[in-house]
Amino acid sequence: MEDKKILFSAVQPSGILTLGNYLGALRNFTALQNDFNGIFALADLHTLTVKQEPAVLRQNTYELTALYLACGIDPEKSILFAQSHVSAHAELSWILNTITYPGELSRMTQFKDKSRNHEDNINMGLMDYPVLMAADILLYQTELVPVGADQKQHLELARDIAIRFNNRYGETFKVPEAYISKSTARIMSLSEPDRKMSKSDANLNAFISMNDDKDTVIKKFKRAVTDSDNSVVFDPENKPGISNLLSIYCAVTGKTVKEAENEFSGKGYGDFKLAVGEAVSSVIEPIRLKKNDLLKNKDYLDDVLSIGASKAERLAYRTLGKVYKKVGLVPRKRV
Ligand code: TRP
Repeated sequence: MEDKKILFSAVQPSGILTLGNYLGALRNFTALQNDFNGIFALADLHTLTVKQEPAVLRQNTYELTALYLACGIDPEKSILFAQSHVSAHAELSWILNTITYPGELSRMTQFKDKSRNHEDNINMGLMDYPVLMAADILLYQTELVPVGADQKQHLELARDIAIRFNNRYGETFKVPEAYISKSTARIMSLSEPDRKMSKSDANLNAFISMNDDKDTVIKKFKRAVTDSDNSVVFDPENKPGISNLLSIYCAVTGKTVKEAENEFSGKGYGDFKLAVGEAVSSVIEPIRLKKNDLLKNKDYLDDVLSIGASKAERLAYRTLGKVYKKVGLVPRKRV
């Protein structure tokens, strides 16, 4: 690999991604892959912490692989692979479990939220989720992890675990840092703009799916909740709906908030919403078509993942070998 910093991130193949996932994660990954050695995983093992229909998980994994590629992840430049294809992830998480405490895990906000939302299935994996995530990151001697606000606590824990292991057994892991991108807008729900846009929202009008066609996108923006004031001004406190639409508009067009406000001054919400819908659709429509095209060729997607896993495995086993040795496991003699 070239002499650049290692940047690792992962997305769970647990459903069709939203515009928020694209603007907050995938789009940035694509931009970052030139400046860093990018390692991008499909966190398929993580999805099992909540109930999955096996056939749907399989399909979602191909969907996400195709989406990564359609968004511009270049498997020649970056490593793109499925977590379950590199068994070192599960193996390292076992070792890390032995230096992580239940109290640390039960404190995690996401564990508490998910326990509330999946009361019938509070399993050990749900609690252990951040340890597997720490293994993902630490296996690659990662320096930077682009994370959204909801994953910051998990990254903090990964850092704590790395430092703890290094203190106990000697320098082994690089301690990763969060990579906070300047341009990441926080994309909110279209129907309840004080909540994050989420693909698991029961109200389909609340989010834009990366699978929505142009008509659907325009229809959803038309229905987006706003206020009765009819002026396009950025004011998250008093005008959360309009401010969210402005953030989205700026994120997809590259315009500044000021430019956007000027463009729509004196115009009504109807014109503005239509413009947002068109701007969003012009960005996601080509991605959707490309992704659907790629999905027709699962052999190709399997090949991409296979090559990615081979590259990832080489790096991962180098770290895992060191870890096994440091903790005192006898190396297996290869005959
Ligand atoms: N937990 C992350 C999410 O749901 C996905 C993830 C798994 C991840 N392993 C990771 C993100 C390692 C960054 C680094 O968003």
